[in-house]
Parts: sequence; structure tokens; C-alpha cells
Amino acid sequence: MKPIISPSLLSADFANLEKEITMLNTSKADWLHLDIMDGVFVPNITIGMSIVHAIRQHSEKPLDVHLMITQPERYISHFKAAGADCLSVHWEASTHLHRTVQQIKLEDMLVGVALNPHTPVSLLSDIIQELDIVLLMSVNPGFGGQQLIERTYHRITELKELIIKNNSNALIEVDGGVDLDNAPRLVKMGCDILVAGNVVFRSANPTETIAQLKNV
Ligand code: DX5
Ligand code: ZN
Repeated sequence: MKPIISPSLLSADFANLEKEITMLNTSKADWLHLDIMDGVFVPNITIGMSIVHAIRQHSEKPLDVHLMITQPERYISHFKAAGADCLSVHWEASTHLHRTVQQIKLEDMLVGVALNPHTPVSLLSDIIQELDIVLLMSVNPGFGGQQLIERTYHRITELKELIIKNNSNALIEVDGGVDLDNAPRLVKMGCDILVAGNVVFRSANPTETIAQLKNV
């Protein structure tokens, strides 16, 4: 199976977003990954609902929204209204995760739970059947352009086992430090969705780089 490619706009040219989205529309990208940071959960601030809504007007591809914010349950309906198709919340930011997951489902979005690199995969055992996506952070969240943490490979194996054991249909999304060298190994190990920021937007030919990621 070919992976779903979800380029992260965090590394795009924010002064030329329409141009970047047009490029993605004509590329082999499957989804657009949007990183929402609040300056509290992570040490960075990015975009909010109004920019997501503006992106929605131009994107022909589903919006894969990754919330790196505290108490994400406050904003579920807002991101739905802005045009999100998939909504991922962090395990570490969600006290009542089961309720939050149900709220996202009620809004008719794909539901994802994101895990920081230190959070054990096993903590998802009682919710994995409810999830469409598990987003494994392969760097510490907050910034693009970091190196993938080696332990991620072990975590993919653990997560795959957990998914199979629980008859879950959850897809495995890896986010952070994905490049053309490590993508083949990630896909071989069972990663279904590759998020790619720097490797796409810093390359000489982003469209070609996306096609290469799709064909690893
Ligand atoms: C980091 C974000 C990532 C980031 C990935 O907190 O969640 O989506 O944009 O960027 P790269 O691919 O450059 O590591
Ligand atoms: Zn992300």
C-alpha cells in the first residue's frame, strides 16, 4: 500500500500560501497537514481558525489538522466550521480524552490522537478501537526541520501490535523529521501516513519530492 502523503504547511512560505496550496493541489499530496500551536502546550505559536478557513477556500485536498493546544475540546466545533476533515488532539493535553474523541466523531471528522515522543503507546489500549488515526510525534512538537528520533521505529512496531490485537482500523501517522532516506523504512514498518514539512518545502522541486515520498 502506498502511504498517504500529508505535507506540513508549517515549512511553507506563509506570505505566499495560495501559491503553495496551488502547488499542493497539482501534486501527489493526499492531505494538507496544518499545525496549530498555542504557545502554551508547545513553545511556538502558529495559525488559528481564520487561516484554516482561508486555506480551505483554496485547497482541493482534505485538511489534516494537528492541534498542539491545551484543552483542545474547546475548539472542536470551531475547526470543523473552519473546514478541518481530520482533527488530532494530543493525549497529553486531554484530561477527558474519551469524551473529546466522541465530540470529534459527532462533528463528522476523522479523529486522531497524537502522542509525544515520551508518551507510552500502551496508554492508548482502552481507546484505540475508537480512533481513525494515531499520530506518533517523531520529534518534540513545536518546530519543523528536526531530526527523527530513532526510538520512533520501535514505537511503530508497538503501535502496530496494539492495533492488530484490538481489531482497530487506526492508521499510523508519523510526524517530524520524515525524509526520503527514512520514509521507505517507516512505510515498511507499517506507517500509513507520512507528514513532511522541511523535506518538501525546502527542496528544489517540492512537487517531485512529494511524488518521491508517495512512491517510496
Ligand atoms: C512539529 C509539527 C510537524 C512539523 C513537521 O511540531 O507537528 O508537523 O511541521 O516538520 P518536518 O517534516 O520539517 O519535521
Ligand atoms: Zn504536525
